[in-house]
Amino acid sequence: MTSTLLSPLGQKTHSETSKQFRDDVLKGLNSPIRSIPSKYFYDQQGSLLFDQICELQEYYPTRTETRIMQRSAKMMAACIGTNTRLVEYGSGSSVKTRILLDQLKQLDSYLPIDISREHLHTTANNLAVEYPHHDIQPLVGDFTKPINLPKTSSPQTRTCIYFPGSTIGNFTHEEASRLLHSMRSTAGPRGSLLIGFDLLKDKHTLEAAYNDRDGVTAQFNLNVLSRINRELDAQVEVASFDHKAIFNEEAGRIEMRLRSLRNQSIRIDDHFFHINAGDEILTEYSHKYTVEGFTTMADEAGWSCRAVWHDAQTYFAVMYLEG
Ligand code: AVJ
Repeated sequence: MTSTLLSPLGQKTHSETSKQFRDDVLKGLNSPIRSIPSKYFYDQQGSLLFDQICELQEYYPTRTETRIMQRSAKMMAACIGTNTRLVEYGSGSSVKTRILLDQLKQLDSYLPIDISREHLHTTANNLAVEYPHHDIQPLVGDFTKPINLPKTSSPQTRTCIYFPGSTIGNFTHEEASRLLHSMRSTAGPRGSLLIGFDLLKDKHTLEAAYNDRDGVTAQFNLNVLSRINRELDAQVEVASFDHKAIFNEEAGRIEMRLRSLRNQSIRIDDHFFHINAGDEILTEYSHKYTVEGFTTMADEAGWSCRAVWHDAQTYFAVMYLEG
């Protein structure tokens, strides 16, 4: 095994990331609808729990998307073409990317971007060993903020943004629109986008996926409180909160919350938050789309749908778009 090959590039130092976390938690707990941004699920512990979620029987998105990739990666690679660099937003363990990389023999380079430095570091190094002929350039970053990509190796090199995993679902429609717009400018002239999103389906299937029997999703949700304890020097009693996930039919989304089981207060530095029994903290939205609805939203952001793949049950879709 090769030792440390790649150190992710990134604008932010560890302490700056912690400061952002602290500011965002304080802001979220102070807002009228108490919330913690879902991107903070993914510290090292949370990323491992998320990988476990992906293996759950009830959690259909990952295996469904993986199957779509396995079946159609050849066609997707043909769409992406040669002389292209692949930029992945929120790469995590890059499991689905491997299926794509196997078909992209002529790729200019692969740039995984992730908020979790440790996880990105490990993944990038594994990929460098598995794909010795690919140029891999990990980047630590938060893709909800504007990203400064390095210059392409030649003016002819196109940029394809890969955004799998239905991460787009975490954003409200307004935020998703904005993100699609910013991706359009990041991808540049002749740029493209390959994006996976979860489809609307029956409430039962949806709610089961976020309330698994083994309680892994509950652990994943509660981990953000443990992270607050670890990184913000707080003493939240994690066991005094319950995991809750419901499908909001009107809004077309799963909503995850942490529900306090008793009256308590949370202290972060000199800030106190009083929480009553039954009070809830919103931790995640997971929006579900129709192919038509998604196409319209992308269209408004300057993207034209060129191809779409889905599974036989129409649980999940992967769409290829161009500017
Ligand atoms: C990674 C955002 C796609 O919304 O299904 C899994 C995260 N949350 N179980 C999703 C998640 C609870 C997941 N995404």
